[in-house]
This record gives sequence, structure tokens and C-alpha cells, in this order.
Amino acid sequence: MNLTLHVWRQPGPRDAGRFVTYQARDVSSDMSFLEMLDVVNEGLILKGEEPIAFDHDCREGICGACGMVINGRPHGPRERTTACQLHMRSFRDGDVLWLEPWRARAFPVVKDLIVDRGAFDRIIAAGGFISAPIGSAPDANAIPIRKENADLAMDAAACIGCGACVAACPNASAMLFTAAKISHLGLLPQGQPERHERALRMVAQMDAEGFGSCTNHNECQAACPKGISVAFIARMNADFIRATVTSGRRVAVAGEGGSG
Ligand code: SF4
Ligand code: FES
Repeated sequence: MNLTLHVWRQPGPRDAGRFVTYQARDVSSDMSFLEMLDVVNEGLILKGEEPIAFDHDCREGICGACGMVINGRPHGPRERTTACQLHMRSFRDGDVLWLEPWRARAFPVVKDLIVDRGAFDRIIAAGGFISAPIGSAPDANAIPIRKENADLAMDAAACIGCGACVAACPNASAMLFTAAKISHLGLLPQGQPERHERALRMVAQMDAEGFGSCTNHNECQAACPKGISVAFIARMNADFIRATVTSGRRVAVAGEGGSG
């Protein structure tokens, strides 16, 4: 296959960016999308040009490092598929592809297709952990957990923190990511002692990072490569409201805005 790529090139966070056109020639349908970019980059390096910067690590859909907008869709055209798991058989000879980084104020561009997703790390650091003493590692099945809750917690834990939900949302909201992280811990017995404090802190940090509000477009769920359900947002909102009422306070974080 031969394809035309219009790629967002931006030398650094403070530089202006622009689309630059490249030809990807003799692309095998068996290549992954990132392998196709590797080949394009080899050609650029041989010509003495700067290779296209893009993020990746595991290349097997589990780390969340990869991600770019391909023809307007985060991670590209296939549902529940990360950019690294996308293969060129999903495209046709002669296709024209527009590659862009995630677009969100809270995810500043580092270079080309790479954005800084440190905002997600700070949301996790604000409360995405269990610090209550829970004793030594229990035997398997020693703590009874309802099957329904175990399944839901596992569904929420599937979030890989890629940021596609933010990129897909017209408001650049991080509600789906934050809801997945809050729900995953809040559904398990070990997560109960800090459940309300966790919701307060993580939502406050999410607001402080400059993400937008949720206005129920559901684009996040459609773009999520792990199929995280927007039902977790309702669960997060319930936890947050309950925490606000019972604690009588909100955790103060500089620059706090309003969450949807
Ligand atoms: S909720 Fe889905 S799209 Fe958002 S960060 Fe998690 S895995 Fe990525
Ligand atoms: S590189 Fe790890 S999920 Fe794509």
C-alpha cells in the first residue's frame, strides 16, 4: 500500500506547529500502525531529517503510552483498539491520513504527536491508592467480594490511562479516566476507608488540572480502547456528592474549577 500522511510537526511546547506531508510507500498490511511510522522515520533519518516523535512503550495495548488522533478519531478507526494494536490492514491503498496529538489544554504538546499527560499522574497521586493498613497479603478468596462488584472493579481497572477519553471529549473532560480510577478502588473492601476522601481529592485535582466539565456527549466511552463505561461517571458523582455532604467540606486545591 502507498499512503499519504499529513503529520502534525511541532518542535517543542512553545513552538508553533503545522502539518507536514509525507508519503508512506510499500506499506505491508501486516504492519502495525506504529511500525509503519517506524519505517517512515527510518526514511527521514536516512535523509537527515528529524523523525516524527510519537509516544509508545508496550506496543501491546496495556501501558497507555501510545495515542494520537488519526483522521479525527483518538487511536484511529477501530473500536476498542489502541494505536499500537491498530494494523495497516485497517486502511486501504491510497488512503490519506491526518495524524495529530491529543488536543487538550491539560495535555500540552511536548513534541509532534507526544503530549504531557502528567495531569493524569497528579490525579492518581491525589488519591488513587489505598494507604489504610490492610494487614499482610490475604489468602485468595479470604475476603468475600460480591461477584458483581469484583467484575465491575475489574472493568474499571482496565483503564490504561491513555487519555483518548479527554481527546475525544468536546470539553476535554477527564471524567471517564478519573471515574474509572475512583470506582476501581471504591468497589473493593480495601478501598472503603478512604473512599470519600479519595473522591474529594481526585475530583479536586482533576478540576485544578484544567480539564473541562462533562456534558454527557459520551464521546469518551466511544473512543476508549478499553470500553470503560460512562456508568462509572455516575458512580463517581454519587461518591463525590456523598463525600461532600458527609464531610461538610471540599478539599482545597489551587485553581479549582467546577466539575460537571
Ligand atoms: S478511560 Fe479509556 S480512554 Fe480514558 S484513559 Fe482510561 S483507557 Fe484511556
Ligand atoms: S504502546 Fe502501550 S498501549 Fe500502546
